[in-house]
Amino acid sequence: QQKVGLVGWRGMVGSVLMQRMQEERDFAHIEPTFFTTSQKGLPAPDFAGANAGVLEDAFDIQALAKQDIIITCQGGDYTKEVYSSLRDSGWNGYWIDAASALRMKDDAVIVLDPVNRKEIDAGVESGIRTFVGGNCTVSLMLLALGGLFEKDLVEWASPMTYQAASGSGAKHMRELISQMGAIHTNVQANLDNPASAILDIDKQVAEFIRSDDYPSEQFGVPLAGSLIPYIDSQLPSGQSREEWKAQAEANKIMGLTEQPIPIDGICVRVGAMRCHSQAITIKLKQDLPVEEIEQILAQHNEWVKVVPNDRDATMQELTPAKVTGTLSIPVGRIRKLTMGPEYISAFTVGDQLLWGAAEPLRRMLRIVLG
Ligand code: HSE
Repeated sequence: QQKVGLVGWRGMVGSVLMQRMQEERDFAHIEPTFFTTSQKGLPAPDFAGANAGVLEDAFDIQALAKQDIIITCQGGDYTKEVYSSLRDSGWNGYWIDAASALRMKDDAVIVLDPVNRKEIDAGVESGIRTFVGGNCTVSLMLLALGGLFEKDLVEWASPMTYQAASGSGAKHMRELISQMGAIHTNVQANLDNPASAILDIDKQVAEFIRSDDYPSEQFGVPLAGSLIPYIDSQLPSGQSREEWKAQAEANKIMGLTEQPIPIDGICVRVGAMRCHSQAITIKLKQDLPVEEIEQILAQHNEWVKVVPNDRDATMQELTPAKVTGTLSIPVGRIRKLTMGPEYISAFTVGDQLLWGAAEPLRRMLRIVLG
């Protein structure tokens, strides 16, 4: 059995990964070692089976170098601190990483095997040993639209996103709920009084959201009752880093870096918990009937699910509330836009922690295990 080192398994993405590994009985196929940044020597978690021993130091290069495979969800700072020293020590094992730090390196492949199994296999074959999970919106978009990209039908795509609080981290998810609760608490007396005027309630809410009593330490500005049309850092291009990733990563995943497909839009944080949604405008290379587009999308992988462009079906099936906690990738609102027969719309939703983060890493582990 291959030795697998697990780093960052207690954080949010790591915990989702551990959950999925248990569900899929991955621990039966590996000899796990759990690494810690603070609790060396304590017993490993019992879900991993009897042979997991004690926690090892995540900064101990020698201990890391004993592993055949390392999966890390510890974050980019950890990767930057450890990765080069580990490679410099001569270690040639598989490094499977959730963080973006190594994603765009030439000697790393971005993993999303339902979309780029060929690139992954070619990478392994050519000696690449560094495999990185993609940005969540990018992975979720490619799973939803994989069929169109695979058949080279997309001239360009413009995803406008509705990204959940989880993409910012666990503390942000907590803050979103605190914000929701604080708004309600602040206005409750007025709300409970049927005689109160809605515009008075609204005014009170607006004043509260703008006040110092509204909890916004994590996001810096209100999310509940508002939205934030900027995600990640600012780039000279005018794009946010999150927006820049769409074209850069999607094309790298699909092996199209020589002749990239333009993919660009605006990324927005909204008050959903852990499902990212995207409204995508697509210019196709040819005029195809909607039924054929739906078929092409539906056939691409076993998780994508075409939702008919019908009001009820959309409201029931195509929402974060429905998709959260599942591996399902519904895509709907597929219709021709009035700009012309090659222009279509699509809307998709996906769990940002599952297919957006943990699942591609878990599946890469399985690919390495063979
Ligand atoms: N950057 C994403 C977000 C999450 O902020 O929603 C990680 O891919």
